[in-house]
Amino acid sequence: MRYGEGLLEEIRRRTDLVALVARRVKLVRKGRVMWGCCPFHAEKSPSFKVENERRLYKCFGCGAGGDAFKWLMETEGLTFPEAVGKLAGEAGVELPQWSPDDEAREQKKKSLYEIVELAAAFYEAQLREANGREARDYIKGRGLDGAAAKQFRLGYAPSSGHALIAHLTSHNITQDDMISAGLARPAEDGRPMRDFFFNRVMFPIGDGRGRIIAFGGRALEADAKPKYINSSENTLFSKGFNLYNFATARAAAIKAGTIILAEGYMDVIALVRAGFAHAVAPLGTALTEDQLQLLWRTAPEPILAFDGDTAGQKAAHRAAHLALPHLKAGHSLRFAFLPSGEDPDSFIAQSGAHAMQKLLDEALPLFDLLWRGETEGKDFSTPERRAGLEHSLRELTSQITDAKVAEYYRRGFDEKVFESFKKRQPTPPQARQTYGGPPRRAGKFTSAFRPRPQPGTPEAVSPAVRASLLARQGGARRVKEMELGALLVEAPDIALTHAEMLAELRLFDPSLDRLRHELLNLAASGSSLEKAGVQTHFARLGMADLLAQFAGRPNSSGETAPEHDPEARFLRAVRDLREMADPPSHRAAPEIYR
Ligand code: CTP
Ligand code: MN
Repeated sequence: MRYGEGLLEEIRRRTDLVALVARRVKLVRKGRVMWGCCPFHAEKSPSFKVENERRLYKCFGCGAGGDAFKWLMETEGLTFPEAVGKLAGEAGVELPQWSPDDEAREQKKKSLYEIVELAAAFYEAQLREANGREARDYIKGRGLDGAAAKQFRLGYAPSSGHALIAHLTSHNITQDDMISAGLARPAEDGRPMRDFFFNRVMFPIGDGRGRIIAFGGRALEADAKPKYINSSENTLFSKGFNLYNFATARAAAIKAGTIILAEGYMDVIALVRAGFAHAVAPLGTALTEDQLQLLWRTAPEPILAFDGDTAGQKAAHRAAHLALPHLKAGHSLRFAFLPSGEDPDSFIAQSGAHAMQKLLDEALPLFDLLWRGETEGKDFSTPERRAGLEHSLRELTSQITDAKVAEYYRRGFDEKVFESFKKRQPTPPQARQTYGGPPRRAGKFTSAFRPRPQPGTPEAVSPAVRASLLARQGGARRVKEMELGALLVEAPDIALTHAEMLAELRLFDPSLDRLRHELLNLAASGSSLEKAGVQTHFARLGMADLLAQFAGRPNSSGETAPEHDPEARFLRAVRDLREMADPPSHRAAPEIYR
């Protein structure tokens, strides 16, 4: 660590974060907090706040947030030391000098960048030389023209095995440095030092700022083994920390609101050429946690577009499991599946960009992918198998470390299990009575939502007492919940201004709670929360029945006209629901609904 926390805090303290952010975002004051439209995702009403007091910015829509350093890193693409340097300069804070060791290491790194860049230019030039002809034909044969080759700086590593070494030597690069840069293999077993890549089409790999740090090299022959080789790990290049095309895709992702992860270099190139500039790929390894974090820094719900073969399916499930411990509000994944035997490259060539867009639009949410993984092609005709399913679903949710997200997954799976089995195995009527409280439509508060005792809840509460509690409170509570639901449908943009409050609220009616949850999802995805669009979205999610109930429902309180100040009505409803949830004589008692 170059700078101590004390020094960093001093710089933060002296930086006017509001003024800094206001250089890019129009901010409006509300109390002590400034609000604006988030620059990291597309939105029309402000859910992005900046506070000088806490020296933080935060978006409730997409989850972006951080301090002044992070702000400069995200909006200007600076590295952390660069951001520190810039703000220290503006704030008049003097930074300590580096040690000579630090200086030497940084110098060495700098010169390695130059060497790798020299190599990239050399490979590019070789592609245009006479002996690059076979590689040119190969690239053309894969449907790429000269412009594409130029855009991605494709090149050719000649077959002699020492062409690059000779070239770099003529630029006074030492052999040690060539090896350090991952461009040459050291002499061994009596063989002289030789080029790392030979007779391959070269794909330069850039870092987050677009500086070339490594290469992927593809063999020209269809049956060559290995088909691809990548630069080995070195000072500049760490496979698991980088993504192909990341620097360009990052900027495009902010505009597109999402980022696409494909499996291969050729897929990324095909996607970009078809208009999906926000496409990246891992670098010859399975997706790593660090790469996942890189994706989430650019978009709340990256789309993984995997090949339509078993390997692709496996990779998708592997990525899904990798993501579980890192999920948080507004951080998820979606999965686009290509037809069997296709990858994005071949699919776009055959079916075009429109068809690709459609696949992306239909991408499956992580939740559904997990459900599918546990249930597809399986038989749950016996109670034991069903119990087995519930067990494995619990295992999955137990991987989620974010308590709120875990709870939604738990409830979501409960609901799915219930929906899937209610036809085949109806709940015995007496069970429904025990937990159902006042009479309701079938399907509410039945076995899948069997109350679990909560910590701090008197375990001894008997089913009879529960039922009477429900009867006493359930009716009034449900009326309030319905009122709130109707309000959310009527004025959905409340989910932007009061996202936090809405996220903390629990509705006991599962379908209303789902509505609340989906609305938060929608807000987090950066979609505009305009009434008609939101209603269509809900209808598409299968909530048309619920919407119809609102439509036919008179304004319950009767005090205010429906269009009158929805925000005030929302705040009042939340307050009322909170009070109901915490009756003085029965703390936590209503938890028995859950
Ligand atoms: N890869 C690799 N080493 C291999 C095979 C693949 O590093 N031996 C990486 C490359 O990054 C490649 C990606 O995995 O781009 C996808 O590999 P694969 O699905 O096998 O690629 P194809 O689509 O078959 O490759 P191409 O389109 O170039 O034929
Ligand atoms: Mn391919």
